[in-house]
Amino acid sequence: MEVIIQPSPDAAAAVAARIIGDLIRRKPDAVLGLATGGTPCGLYKELIRMHRQEGLDFSGVTTFNLDEYVGIPPGHPASYHRFMQENLFAHVNVPPGNIHIPDGNTPDIPQFCARYEEQIRQAGGIDLQVLGIGHDGHIGFNESTSSLVSRTRIKTLTEETLAANQRFFAPGEPVPRHVITMGVGTIMDSRTCLMLAFGEGKAKAVASMVEGPITAMCPASILQMHRQTSLILDPPAASLLTRTAYYQHVFANKPDFQRVSAFPVI
Ligand code: F6R
Repeated sequence: MEVIIQPSPDAAAAVAARIIGDLIRRKPDAVLGLATGGTPCGLYKELIRMHRQEGLDFSGVTTFNLDEYVGIPPGHPASYHRFMQENLFAHVNVPPGNIHIPDGNTPDIPQFCARYEEQIRQAGGIDLQVLGIGHDGHIGFNESTSSLVSRTRIKTLTEETLAANQRFFAPGEPVPRHVITMGVGTIMDSRTCLMLAFGEGKAKAVASMVEGPITAMCPASILQMHRQTSLILDPPAASLLTRTAYYQHVFANKPDFQRVSAFPVI
């Protein structure tokens, strides 16, 4: 796993956007896996800026989102359909027919989930999966003790995740308990994973993921077994790592062919 520590969330988002921009320029029909939540907002802002100012073209891109709540309408202010529309899709040129987000109102959840997996396969698999991490080490909505080979399916959120996501709902409005999420195995099939994590609140989960044992108690730790995962952190999120000097040394001495242009080195 590659650990990249950047001076700020904005700097980290810029690096992540450059990695995605490079991919889209190299492979205009790239398949992106996308995340919601607070973490990727800066990344999406930067991609929108690159689309507007640098002509980054999403017209051949296909997307698959990680997850969605069960039982709230797509237009609900906290729905991930709405989040993606407001934070990315309304501002770039991904063709609407190429956008896939789990349908939290499907009448047949198991059948929908099997079809979602099939759609990912038919698109050629995910080239790059954007990830955030939960305080407990979840990825997608694969909570602690999720099967590390799971596929897209329904999950029940923990009290901790319900509390963390209450901020996206009106005060007093209950957060849906159920979600549809890509499985850990689905995420592991992506050719590249690009995780962002910011703030001290994520430090423990990040340390467990990178330096702890592989365990379903921290589903993100399975990324230690992924062939190409980059983790881009701000200093507070990196604060509990013990091998920081090594990660910075690796980054500062990257061979030219591995460099994404102008990484700020701290
Ligand atoms: C969202 C998702 C979640 C979040 C995680 C962190 O699509 O899959 O795993 O990435 O809960 O959320 P934030 O970014 O809000 O801290």
